[in-house]
Amino acid sequence: MEAVTGLRSGSAAETAAWGRRLGQALRPGDFVALVGELGAGKTCLSRGVAEGAGVPLEDVSSPTFAIIQAYAGRLRLYHADLYRLTDADALYATGYFDLLAGADGAFLVEWAEQVPGAIPADALVIRLRADAEEDAVRWAVLEPRGARGAELARALAG
Ligand SMILES: Nc1ncnc2c1ncn2[C@@H]1O[C@H](COP(=O)(O)OP(=O)(O)O)[C@@H](O)[C@H]1O
Ligand SMILES: [Mg+2]
Repeated sequence: MEAVTGLRSGSAAETAAWGRRLGQALRPGDFVALVGELGAGKTCLSRGVAEGAGVPLEDVSSPTFAIIQAYAGRLRLYHADLYRLTDADALYATGYFDLLAGADGAFLVEWAEQVPGAIPADALVIRLRADAEEDAVRWAVLEPRGARGAELARALAG
C-alpha cells in the first residue's frame, strides 16, 4: 500500500473509530508511530486504539510523564511518548529497546521521530494534523513501512 494522503476525520468520534479498527488489528510486535502537533488528535486516536485492543479505557492516560506505559488488554499494549527525549541514550535508559526486541506486545508511540532509531523497519507511521479552517476536522497521512505496516494501514482505513 502506498501512503494514503488526506484521510479525513470529521469528528473526535471518527478519529477514535479509526483507532478502534487499528486496535482490533494489532498483534504483538506491531508498531504504530503517531506524529502531530498538540491538539492534532494523537491522544484521541490512542484511546481508540487501546479500546480496540481491549484495554479498559480508565487505564489509558497520556504517557508523557511515564515515557512508557504498559496496558493489559486482548494483548499487551505499550504506549509511549518520546516528546521529552532528545537522544537515544535517554531512551535506552527507559528499557524501550529491550521491550521492542522482546516483541511481547504492540507499540503505540507518540513523537516517535523525536529519537533516531526509535521506529523499527516494519511500522505504521500516522501523521495527524488539524484542518486550517474547520475546528472538528483532522487529516491523517498513513505511511506504512513493511508488511505489517501495510496491513495496519488497511485496517485503519477500513
Ligand atoms: N476530528 C477530530 N479528531 C480528533 N480530535 C478532534 C477532532 N475534532 C476535534 N477534536 C478535538 O481536538 C482535541 C485533540 O486532542 P488530543 O487528542 O489530546 O490531541 P494531541 O494528543 O495530539 O495533543 C480534542 O479536544 C478533540 O475533542
Ligand atoms: Mg496527547
